[in-house]
Amino acid sequence: MVIDRELLKLVRKNIPSDFEARQLCEYLIKNGIEDKAEELSLKRKSGYPLQYILGEWDFFGRTFKVGEGVLIPRADTETLIETVLRADCKKSVICDLCSGSGCIAVTLEKETGAKVYAVEKSAKAFEFLKENVALNSSSVECVFGDIFDEGVKNSVPQSDIIVCNPPYLTSGDMNALQTEVSFEPREALFGGEDGLLFYRKVTSFWKEKINDGGYIFYEIGKGQEKQVSEILIENGFEDIKYQEDLCKIIRVVYARKK
Ligand SMILES: C[S@@+](CC[C@H](N)C(=O)[O-])C[C@H]1O[C@@H](n2cnc3c(N)ncnc32)[C@H](O)[C@@H]1O
Repeated sequence: MVIDRELLKLVRKNIPSDFEARQLCEYLIKNGIEDKAEELSLKRKSGYPLQYILGEWDFFGRTFKVGEGVLIPRADTETLIETVLRADCKKSVICDLCSGSGCIAVTLEKETGAKVYAVEKSAKAFEFLKENVALNSSSVECVFGDIFDEGVKNSVPQSDIIVCNPPYLTSGDMNALQTEVSFEPREALFGGEDGLLFYRKVTSFWKEKINDGGYIFYEIGKGQEKQVSEILIENGFEDIKYQEDLCKIIRVVYARKK
């Protein structure tokens, strides 16, 4: 797309990143709202996430709608996808817990052809999940509710894989959030005092839903691998494996149910 020099100059006054400035210009041109250049670039300058301004973001080569109330899909989470795709295990039925925008569920369904279930409890996030399933012509089954509710668990069939990118920030992390992240929903970020609440509860509550020999895949926060592995072992999982992200941080822990 050709971007008018004056428009780019105006936006660059508030947005130093050339990549971001160009993304915003393209958005303004595409929607015929170049008159909002000043207003929206100032909004971005205040720390408001670019992704929320654009209303969509790409993940693993597909577009997902995003906005206030839903976590923005992260590049780190592509490591989780790649790990599941590479794993040598049965992938006919997959359940994605804490699904948010649905970026994991939709991507895994498209890439593996599995029957995929996606569970999300936030009403706002659930609207984005359904929208993204439709946008990507996906057949992911969306389940609205709390993953710790028996009824919700019973509505999902036995699975070969459970995949989960839960809230995993600690209390300390929450007090030191980057400005951009502070605009994202707290219930998508906070994983209890030590950040491990979801790993404990999900592992014990959901393990019965995994077929014998099936797998659980978790995205984790920096430095959580040892404690998450212990939780998995205590719950009868074996063959614990790690996968690093592009920054060499262990980002995924996965294990097989005995
Ligand atoms: C870290 S975000 C991950 C979103 C998405 N899977 C991704 O990777 O971008 C965690 C998600 O879990 C949801 N969540 C938190 N507690 C939940 C619960 N008890 N039951 C279902 N979903 C929950 C939040 O609303 C949020 O969408």
